[in-house]
Amino acid sequence: MKLQDKISLVVGGASGIGAAIAARFADEGSFVYATSRKPFDTESQQVIPVVADAGAPSDLKQVFERIRGEKGHIDVLVLNAGISEYAELGDITEGTYDRIFGLNVRSLVFTAQESLGLIKQGGAIVLIGSIADAIGPKGYGVYSASKSAVRSFARTWANELAPRGIRVNVVSPGPTDTAMMAATTDEVRAALTSMIPLGRMGRPDEVASAALFLASDESSFTTGAELCVDGGATQV
Ligand SMILES: NC(=O)c1ccc[n+]([C@@H]2O[C@H](COP(=O)([O-])OP(=O)(O)OC[C@H]3O[C@@H](n4cnc5c(N)ncnc54)[C@H](OP(=O)(O)O)[C@@H]3O)[C@@H](O)[C@H]2O)c1
Repeated sequence: MKLQDKISLVVGGASGIGAAIAARFADEGSFVYATSRKPFDTESQQVIPVVADAGAPSDLKQVFERIRGEKGHIDVLVLNAGISEYAELGDITEGTYDRIFGLNVRSLVFTAQESLGLIKQGGAIVLIGSIADAIGPKGYGVYSASKSAVRSFARTWANELAPRGIRVNVVSPGPTDTAMMAATTDEVRAALTSMIPLGRMGRPDEVASAALFLASDESSFTTGAELCVDGGATQV
C-alpha cells in the first residue's frame, strides 16, 4: 500500500496509460479522481470518474474546486492527457501545431499552475512525457517537441517546488499498447517495435508501475528526473 490514504488526480484517466495509473494507485490505497471528456466506468470504487476536458482550464478549475470541497487537498497529480498527429515538415498545419501544443503543453502548464493551491507539502507531480523527443520519429516532430517541453518544465518546476517539498518527475513511455498507438499504421508500429531491445511494445500497467514509484515515498529523493519505460529503446 504505497499510496495509503493519499488523494490523487489523474488528468486523462479513462483509457490507456491514464486508466492503468488510476487503477494502480487505487490498488495501492489512494483515493483517485480520474478525468475524461466522456462519462466512463471504473472497476474500483476508489476511482471516481470525473467528466472534464483536459484541454479546458475552466473544466479543470471546477475539478480542483470539487476536490477542495470533498478532500481539501491533493497528494499526487498526474498529467497524462496527450495527443499526437502525424505531420512531416512541409505538411504541418497551424491546426496540428495548436492542437498538440494546446493540450500537451499549454493545458499541462495551466493545470499544474492551478493545482498549486491544492497540492500538499510533500506531494508529487508526475508528468507523462515520451521517448519520442529523444528518437525523433519521422512525422512526429510537433508531438516530439511538445514532449521536450514537458521534460523541460519538470526540471524547472522541480526547482521551484522543492522548497514546498513537492517533487516533480516525468515518466517517458516508449511505444505502449494503447488506443493512441492503435491509431498509427502497421508500418509505424513495426518500425517502432524493431528498435526496442526487449522486442515488444510496453503495456499500460508497466508505465503505471513507474508512475507509482515516482508518486510514492519510494522515490523520496528523486525530483526533476525522467524515467524511461521503453524496453531499452533510448538506453542501450
Ligand atoms: N501509447 C504510447 O505509445 C505512448 C508513448 C509515449 C507517450 N505516451 C503518452 O501517454 C499519454 C496517454 O496516452 P495513451 O497512449 O494512454 O493514449 P489514449 O488512451 O488515447 O489516452 C489519451 C489521453 O489524452 C486525452 N485526450 C486525447 N485527446 C484529447 C483532446 N483533444 N482534449 C483533451 N484530452 C484529450 C484522453 O482523454 P479523453 O478520455 O477525454 O479522451 C486520454 O486521457 C499521452 O500523454 C501520450 O502522449 C503514449
